[in-house]
Amino acid sequence: MAGRIVVLISGSGSNMAALVEACRRRDLPGEVVAVVADRDCLGVDLAAGYDIETVKLEPVGFSSREEWSAALRDRVADFEPDLVVSAGFMRILSPVFVDAFTGRLINLHPSLLPAFPGAHAVRDALAAGAKETGTTVHFVDNEVDHGVIIAQERVPIEADDTEEALHERIKEREHELLPRVCRDLLKGKVRRPGADSDAG
Ligand code: GRF
Repeated sequence: MAGRIVVLISGSGSNMAALVEACRRRDLPGEVVAVVADRDCLGVDLAAGYDIETVKLEPVGFSSREEWSAALRDRVADFEPDLVVSAGFMRILSPVFVDAFTGRLINLHPSLLPAFPGAHAVRDALAAGAKETGTTVHFVDNEVDHGVIIAQERVPIEADDTEEALHERIKEREHELLPRVCRDLLKGKVRRPGADSDAG
């Protein structure tokens, strides 16, 4: 049976789309059953175009971040996901969410963590004069852009790079990396935090 994947997004959703297409090509034993966003964004329209259920849950209207996080947790849990993928979701996930999906929640981050955590990873790598950067998929824990690293890909930085050009080259690698990591996870080839024994 196909693994049930929920993707969390806030932006263009190109990684979500790459994952959907990989699932539809049967490159991995999974299906994106829902796309959940914290705002109106291009990715939600893209997901609707793929005929995938979309949910928009904005923090506005909730009395606290905790209350919004609990609602987000419940909404995502309703889809009974085997995997929850944060791919460009621009909110910090609080423990009430993270702890509900231990070993099932991964994040895609555009740097070679632990270098350049945070919301401006590509800009920060350029500003630091780094010669290379890349992308990381990691399990999410209760520290920002932290948690067991599953896989990384390196991307060289060119002398005349702009943030946009560099981020586009990083995304090209991410579009291949994310489906590959999801495949390995759904096939039980990655040891998950919180698992009692080796996943196999
Ligand atoms: C990706 O580069 C991801 O690493 C970062 O946000 C970007 C999302 O891009 N967290 P997209 O919305 O998938 O195009």
